[in-house]
Amino acid sequence: MRLAHISDLHITTGSGAPGLVRSDAVARARALVKDVSEFPGLDLVVITGDTVNDARAEEYDVLAEVLAGLNVPCVIIPGNHDNRVHLRRLVPHQAYADPELLHHLWQCDHVRVLALDSLSPGEVGGRLLAPQLDWLADQLTRPFDGHTLVALHHPPCAAAMGTLDGPILIEGHLALRDLLDSQDRPATVLCGHLHRPFTARFGHTLVSAATSTAFQFALDLQAEDEPPTAPEPFHYNIHILGADGSHVIHQRFPDL
Ligand SMILES: [Fe+2]
Repeated sequence: MRLAHISDLHITTGSGAPGLVRSDAVARARALVKDVSEFPGLDLVVITGDTVNDARAEEYDVLAEVLAGLNVPCVIIPGNHDNRVHLRRLVPHQAYADPELLHHLWQCDHVRVLALDSLSPGEVGGRLLAPQLDWLADQLTRPFDGHTLVALHHPPCAAAMGTLDGPILIEGHLALRDLLDSQDRPATVLCGHLHRPFTARFGHTLVSAATSTAFQFALDLQAEDEPPTAPEPFHYNIHILGADGSHVIHQRFPDL
């Protein structure tokens, strides 16, 4: 089973406040979707939030058009720049576990993705509250012999990135860690939000953070202020999840 992980497309129509977002963000998102679609043998794409920049309906119209070219199943969860109602309309056939929040399960053969909704309206940081953690706990008690991946926008642990480590997952992270550590097999967390790729160990769990097509922060491990953006080569990760329990992660550098 092959899974591509992308994040933080920050689709904008240009009429909002672009901030750090590159002027070619939509074109880069479109090129990324094309690359993912043309890469042979992918079974799933996981998009870990911040699909658009200003949570406006017209941005979701553009996002729908960008994602229309995707030819593999897709799991999408919200980030702090998203709007749940608009995101629901984007994926009308998706069954969610809650009438408001967008957490849900995607499962196929020996892989399950527990997609979480860490959006906390009005905040940059994210929260997982008791009802969603209860749902996660219930899912984890169900018999399953395979890979467990948890997808959420906000990193559950710091990335040694100074001020950027503040508004990550600010509530529910310890409960998440303990729930995942209680499992026989180590889980993998897929996240975004920091606009910087990194890998971390969180309890027994491997955390893999995707960067953004819209902008990437420079690597500054001592930054007291937000670091500048850096025009570094973009990459996304392809996770190869074997039925024998193997897990290989490759980096793909598309020409955006
Ligand atoms: Fe973002």
